[in-house]
Amino acid sequence: MKAAVIDNFDQPPAYRDFADPVPNGPEELVEVVAAGVHQIVRGQASGRHYSSHRQLPMIPGVDGVCRRSDGSLAYFGGLRAPYGTFAERAAAPMLMPLPDGLDPAVVAASMNPGMSGWNALAVRAALQPGQSVVVLGATGASGQTAIQAAKLLGASEVIAVGRSAAGLRAVSEHADHTVRIDSGTDWPAQVAALADHVDVVVDYLWGEPAAGLLGALVAGRADSTRQLTWAQVGSMAGSPLALDSELLRSSNLHLIGSGLGSVPMEQIGTQLPAFLGHLAAGHLHVTPVRRRLADVTEAWSEPIPPGQRLVIVP
Ligand SMILES: NC(=O)c1ccc[n+]([C@@H]2O[C@H](COP(=O)([O-])OP(=O)(O)OC[C@H]3O[C@@H](n4cnc5c(N)ncnc54)[C@H](OP(=O)(O)O)[C@@H]3O)[C@@H](O)[C@H]2O)c1
Repeated sequence: MKAAVIDNFDQPPAYRDFADPVPNGPEELVEVVAAGVHQIVRGQASGRHYSSHRQLPMIPGVDGVCRRSDGSLAYFGGLRAPYGTFAERAAAPMLMPLPDGLDPAVVAASMNPGMSGWNALAVRAALQPGQSVVVLGATGASGQTAIQAAKLLGASEVIAVGRSAAGLRAVSEHADHTVRIDSGTDWPAQVAALADHVDVVVDYLWGEPAAGLLGALVAGRADSTRQLTWAQVGSMAGSPLALDSELLRSSNLHLIGSGLGSVPMEQIGTQLPAFLGHLAAGHLHVTPVRRRLADVTEAWSEPIPPGQRLVIVP
């Protein structure tokens, strides 16, 4: 079959022949319809993501939409290395039937970014209706859908914090407040001043922005014993963070992560129907930028508009 193949972690994938997958045990042979180029996909294809199996050659791609032998469409993922979803065919161990009427490219673009905030809030932070939420790194595809997820899950107030002014303008219709990360301002204090208490932070940045905001939120708390749940989801601003021990002793800070390895697969499965229902209703939607599998090498480094997602269609 034809596939996008990584032969070297420093190079984009090449469009070339690769051995067809042979289903093993419960795996089902399917035709790939659409697959998204998410940050995790780029991280695995460069060997840098913690979930990378670092086996070459490999086909990248963690999830997508496929057609089963009965003609129906399903969401799928979790393929056995070295296989990924940027190929004509796959042996899928995990399949979730899709409701009628969903555009496969929209599903492929939206599931990974959309489920990141949904899982962080609904599963890991167990957000309660009426709680207030900050989304740090709100201008990416994941951050913008996390704002909507917080509202759909009953948050009373959502503060969107991000770097690009244009990205913040784009998310302002869903967020109650927006604050721009600008090294020339005390933006963490601006965020802290917007709410008497923040209950949950969904963090896509980590690094310096997270350290600054964490300090300001703890310092600005009216009741230091009220729980502040910090859900770490992405690290666009860097992986290390210097954490002052006083922050933990002087507040009721719960520092948790949400991602592959921390969210049990069964819990992801229980959240998927609700998530897909919202997607079908037009919420949590990420706009796909469709490119053909044959053009994957050029598409890999193409600039994609903020908040949109490159989707490969065989
Ligand atoms: N754990 C999970 O389940 C999960 C799932 C999905 C994604 N993620 C992670 O979440 C992160 C975001 O993913 P995404 O899908 O939103 O990616 P994306 O659509 O490519 O957006 C990335 C965003 O990061 C922002 N950014 C980059 N460097 C920054 C910095 N130094 N300071 C502030 N903002 C910065 C960019 O802001 P500008 O607009 O200003 O350029 C852009 O909006 C990634 O680390 C990804 O791996 C985790």
